[in-house]
Amino acid sequence: MARIVSGDSGTREVVAALRSGQVVGLPTETVYGLAADIRNDAALLKIFTVKRRPVTHPLIIHIARPEELEDIALEISPVCHALVDICWPGPLTVIIRAAPHVSRLCTGGRDTVAVRLPAHSSAQNVIRQLGSPVAAPSANRFGDVSPTTALHVVDDLGDDINLVFDGGSCEVGIESTIVDCTTAKPEILRHGAITPEAIEQIISTCDAALATRVSGTSRAPGMLDRHYAPKTQLVLHEREAKVPQDGAPVLHCDGDLVEVARTLYDQLRGLDARNISLAHVVMPPSGGLGFAIRDRLIKAATGL
Ligand code: TXA
Ligand code: MG
Repeated sequence: MARIVSGDSGTREVVAALRSGQVVGLPTETVYGLAADIRNDAALLKIFTVKRRPVTHPLIIHIARPEELEDIALEISPVCHALVDICWPGPLTVIIRAAPHVSRLCTGGRDTVAVRLPAHSSAQNVIRQLGSPVAAPSANRFGDVSPTTALHVVDDLGDDINLVFDGGSCEVGIESTIVDCTTAKPEILRHGAITPEAIEQIISTCDAALATRVSGTSRAPGMLDRHYAPKTQLVLHEREAKVPQDGAPVLHCDGDLVEVARTLYDQLRGLDARNISLAHVVMPPSGGLGFAIRDRLIKAATGL
């Protein structure tokens, strides 16, 4: 069973485990990641085994200093520079052309790679002390709800990993915004806390505009229609007045959206823990953080 560690001694243990080729649970400001040293293919392979994720699905590389992007990238566009200058450290992942030495296990065999610099001091400390970036997908089984506490990680993967670093509950609560910076017009592949409006504003300083104004669900490779899904069936409603009074629990996702995002996955996990078969959800409006929350809820409600 995985042990939860913290503080300086916990950091040392986690770094030693990464050095010896283990995968570990690592907090970030978005969700907890399942981390491995990017220099070690055997360790990277363990990520896919533990998550039960197909090896063709690319991973996000996490760095601790912006300069580390140069080592991973073949080239960095002005738009990419502008985005990371403003948004890092923070919940933004950029897709860039990968340098030839980047492991195919990170790229999923593509010529591009995803990179982000998390705004979480524990993650940054671990990466710095390791002396290498780590690859980390969310620390849940493929298709399930992402973890936002160390205990969530132990619940999901505790039998298959040895260590989880406890960095508290995640401030943002949903996965990072992914922007593909390799296309002529940058494109949002996954919505997150860095909103489309913010991205448009930043890239407009480079005379760029988003490929399309995305309002539907995310479409990064490997993201299924059914994703982030609890076992509880969710019924989505645009307005509170539409919710039937049938005694089923109601999640109000239309209030303070920062708070809604922060607590969303814990709430979804709570429904499963209570064996609730059906719950109603009042949706947030489109726009701002509402895009990302709607995206996760639509995926969580699909395909059951
Ligand atoms: O907030 C986050 O991004 C969290 C924390 C742990 O950093 N990580 C996360 O990783 O959500 P994961 O693996 O669960 O989701 C990464 C997404 C996948 O949908 C993957 O397809 C996409 O990023 N992705 C990774 N590399 C890509 C690439 N080269 N091109 C397009 N999409 C890519
Ligand atoms: Mg994930």
